[in-house]
Amino acid sequence: MKIVISIGGSILVPDEIDMSYAKYLAEMMNEISKKNQISIVTGGGRLARKYIENARKFGASEIFCDLIGITATKLNARLLSAVIGEKATLEPPKDFIGALKALNFGKIVVMGGTHPGHSTDAVAALLAEYIRADLLINASNVEGIYDKDPKEHKDAKMKERLTVEELVDMVSAYPMGAGKYELMDILAAKIIQRSRIKTIFLNGRDLGNMRNAIEGREFKGTIIESG
Ligand code: UTP
Repeated sequence: MKIVISIGGSILVPDEIDMSYAKYLAEMMNEISKKNQISIVTGGGRLARKYIENARKFGASEIFCDLIGITATKLNARLLSAVIGEKATLEPPKDFIGALKALNFGKIVVMGGTHPGHSTDAVAALLAEYIRADLLINASNVEGIYDKDPKEHKDAKMKERLTVEELVDMVSAYPMGAGKYELMDILAAKIIQRSRIKTIFLNGRDLGNMRNAIEGREFKGTIIESG
């Protein structure tokens, strides 16, 4: 299977870099890459937010902040590449052609952002579209998609299934801005919609659960239905 995984920066760098998580993630990626073609797109996490917030205070434009964010995502990609080892791309591919070439070479692609104006979730969705991936996993620090914000509402319920139209509606209400994407950005949702990419939202910190999702076993998360 061709699998693209968007690893939220918030799970790789929750506060400080979580090297123990990175190590287990890397081991799992090396293992599953024996039977699958794996691409990982790393988010910027707190690293990106800290730098963006400080630059914005001094009047930096949104595109300037996006470029700072992209640098942070690439830094995380380089770190994860180092932990994965020789099977990972040494340089984070700058674009989708570079990613495809690396995949054809038998590499695990580890890349960050590409262009200003969107998040790494959109990069992962575009890459999944480009390589015709069988599965796109959106791994964050929440179990899946809830009917309301679980951080604010104790009675929030996770949805096991959501139509892609519902996903697009949900994310279209979010503000757009550097370092501000919540669940996913609108571009990512629209790409998933137009190409009917099989997509799962899950908690990326639970690696056993992620493996179950990849290998077709029962898992906890939200499946996006594209009809
Ligand atoms: P993230 O993908 O981490 O954004 O990229 P996010 O979703 O806001 O953060 P997490 O993953 O939930 O922690 C960080 C920032 O880098 C810029 C955006 O400003 C984004 O918010 N970025 C990233 C781009 O402009 N283009 C890209 O291709 C990727």
